[in-house]
Amino acid sequence: MLDVEKIRADFPMIRNHPELVYFDNGATTFKPQAVIDAVVHFYEYGTSNVHRGDYALSAEADKLYDGTRDIIGEFLNCRPDEVVFTANDTASLNQIVYGLSRTVLKDGGTVLTTEAEHASNLLPWYRLAEERNVKIEYIPTDAVGLISMDDARKAMHDGVKVISVAHVSNVLGTVQPVKELAALAHEYGALIVVDGAQSVPHRKTDVKDLDVDLLAFSSHKMCGPDGVGVLYGKHELLEQMDPLLLGGGMNARFNACGEVTLKHAPEKFEAGTPNIEGVIGLGVAAKYLMSIGMDNIEEYERSLRAYFVSKAKELENIEIYNPDNETGPLAFNGKGVFAQDAAGYLASQGIAVRSGNHCAKILHEIIGTDQTIRASLYFYNTKEEADRCIEAMKGISIENAIGIFF
Ligand SMILES: Cc1ncc(COP(=O)(O)O)c(C=O)c1O
Repeated sequence: MLDVEKIRADFPMIRNHPELVYFDNGATTFKPQAVIDAVVHFYEYGTSNVHRGDYALSAEADKLYDGTRDIIGEFLNCRPDEVVFTANDTASLNQIVYGLSRTVLKDGGTVLTTEAEHASNLLPWYRLAEERNVKIEYIPTDAVGLISMDDARKAMHDGVKVISVAHVSNVLGTVQPVKELAALAHEYGALIVVDGAQSVPHRKTDVKDLDVDLLAFSSHKMCGPDGVGVLYGKHELLEQMDPLLLGGGMNARFNACGEVTLKHAPEKFEAGTPNIEGVIGLGVAAKYLMSIGMDNIEEYERSLRAYFVSKAKELENIEIYNPDNETGPLAFNGKGVFAQDAAGYLASQGIAVRSGNHCAKILHEIIGTDQTIRASLYFYNTKEEADRCIEAMKGISIENAIGIFF
């Protein structure tokens, strides 16, 4: 079990905002002191570029930066050279789509996805569909965006080259059967791409066990710095894929005729100076999460969510969209109250949540509303904070929501 009080002491944001209940962890998470220290230490003692210098500082930076691949390798159960550092989950997904557009989708094909996806896992595919002979098809889902394997099997056909889904929905917290979808994709010779933005920070992700081909996630949603993402890919796939960005650091040689020889993966995907301190911080964040234990984190979050939902269900002024999901955010609305007004009211009570469509702009096709409030919890949140949020939710009404503006 987690020692949450001890964990909370690791987070300066919690100490510095004692009145705030931060339930917007789906957007970004707080950073523990160890991550902040690692970033500051690099600036104060380690500043230098990577893979370029012939001096001790630069060699040390290389060691820390590339050492993070080992840490993420342990975190995901993959080889270090299967870990590419990008700017964020979005950048990883754009790289994946570009890479596949020049391999398995070169001559066209179908991409199977869902209507519950975040924009970052749809818009790159849409652009590809516009430019190439690529079709986007949606696997039907139930009312909380869940794919049944029966529906997935019905949607599957020989033209499908890629299945691309979020492991966990950022609005509803629905957990897709990724392992089964991977097996289905492989049965047809297709690939599976997983958007892990909302899963990797909250549950053990073993890419070997899941047998996913390509996975994207962001550091900032798992206690790490902003501006860093990870693209995991099976090494042979990465070797086949072309990089989206070209420049220094990723080529082995080129000549005046324009003949370019790229380095191998993962370096060939990391053109230009990377976010060195961010990557080092991500390594510290991953170690921090592993020291707590991803299974412990998942178990704690499940029980906290169950507690929060059981209290929220008692509120007559609140409509919940995903009461039966066991993990992920709670999506709700105040009955008859515009989501942003209600979120504004909660903010006036010291509760930080997000409202709107959460970048999943076609999810309303599934849940029938494009405006929800999202309360997303993390392992440093407590039952007391859930109670405070519930108390504040009791006050959501048209009068109160309007009241905050006058
Ligand atoms: C499911 C999902 N995919 C993609 C993203 C994009 O992540 P980022 O903004 O870090 O690139 C998010 C962010 O909220 C997300 O929740």
